[in-house]
Amino acid sequence: MLILGIESSCDDAAAAVLATDRPGVAEVRATAIANQDDVHRAYGGIVPELASRGHVVTIMPVIERALASANATLDDIGGIAVTRGPGLVGSLLVGLLCAKGIAQASGLPMVGVNHLEGHLLAPMLEHALPFPYLALVVSGGHTALFAVEDFGRYRRLGATRDDAAGEAFDKVAKMMGLGYPGGRIIDELSRSGDPKGVKFPRARVKNAPLDFSFSGVKTAVALFLAGERGGTTAPNDLAASFQEAVVEMLIRPTIAAARELGADTIALTGGVAANSRLRDRLAAAAEADGRRLVAPSFKYCTDNAAMIAIAGSYRLLRGERDPLTIDANPNLPL
Ligand code: KG4
Ligand code: ZN
Repeated sequence: MLILGIESSCDDAAAAVLATDRPGVAEVRATAIANQDDVHRAYGGIVPELASRGHVVTIMPVIERALASANATLDDIGGIAVTRGPGLVGSLLVGLLCAKGIAQASGLPMVGVNHLEGHLLAPMLEHALPFPYLALVVSGGHTALFAVEDFGRYRRLGATRDDAAGEAFDKVAKMMGLGYPGGRIIDELSRSGDPKGVKFPRARVKNAPLDFSFSGVKTAVALFLAGERGGTTAPNDLAASFQEAVVEMLIRPTIAAARELGADTIALTGGVAANSRLRDRLAAAAEADGRRLVAPSFKYCTDNAAMIAIAGSYRLLRGERDPLTIDANPNLPL
């Protein structure tokens, strides 16, 4: 079955064509994405109204591009999987209404997908990944640990109490005047920096060893910058020290959760999963603990439609469909 995936929950409009006959075994035939970094850069963050207006213009061309590069037309497609939440409501509505229109006109079955479920299953696009596994989802909007027990069976073990890790990266980059989006810039700058250059706190959430907190280190960087009027610390040392603190605060609860769960495999996913230091150090920590780390390639770490297609494939392969009356839900629970 060929599945058309559609994703527009935040600032990227994406489409993908996925071939699958068995849940969890899939081949990505094509992906297409319209990125809006140039639109939001001037504001140093995502402006929701501009994001949804952008999607209105790009969503159909993106879908057409994905179909064309898969050498397919709608006649070849067996079902549509579309993100229905969580995310920005205006952004979500554009993709969802577009999917409904295509489903109505073609008669194809359509299923609504939870964006987080997409991130949790994204590692399956490239790796044979038997259930159960532990997933660390770490993006601009989410930082959480889940036990992935089966398709549709997810148990949240811990989450951030304040900022998402990606949000902390973006805010610190903005404070340092490095540009947008900040995660990748800090990652690159840190390569030449000393991670021990500046001492930043490693926060722990009291009585909740599997939860995270990143607002403290973000404030610590702000205070450091305010106190250091001469700017004598090299930006690469500052970036590397901040990054090291975030990475260590991600690793400790993850390894603790893997032990608690007895999980052999840890899947790392979400935009911050692209961070080279996090990938290296978490892989080493997992290995030292007798476990394996699985992380998708960059294009499946950040928001994409292939992960939405694989998340929707389970229900589509069973012949299920959602009514065309389903709504977007910005706070859709998993
Ligand atoms: O998953 P994603 O594309 O969108 C959300 O659902 O949030 O994640 C975007 C986030 C941004 O905060 C961005 O700064 C961060 O992922 N990011 C990184 C890196 N690449 C992207 N953070 C740290 N290091 C990177 N290399
Ligand atoms: Zn995401």
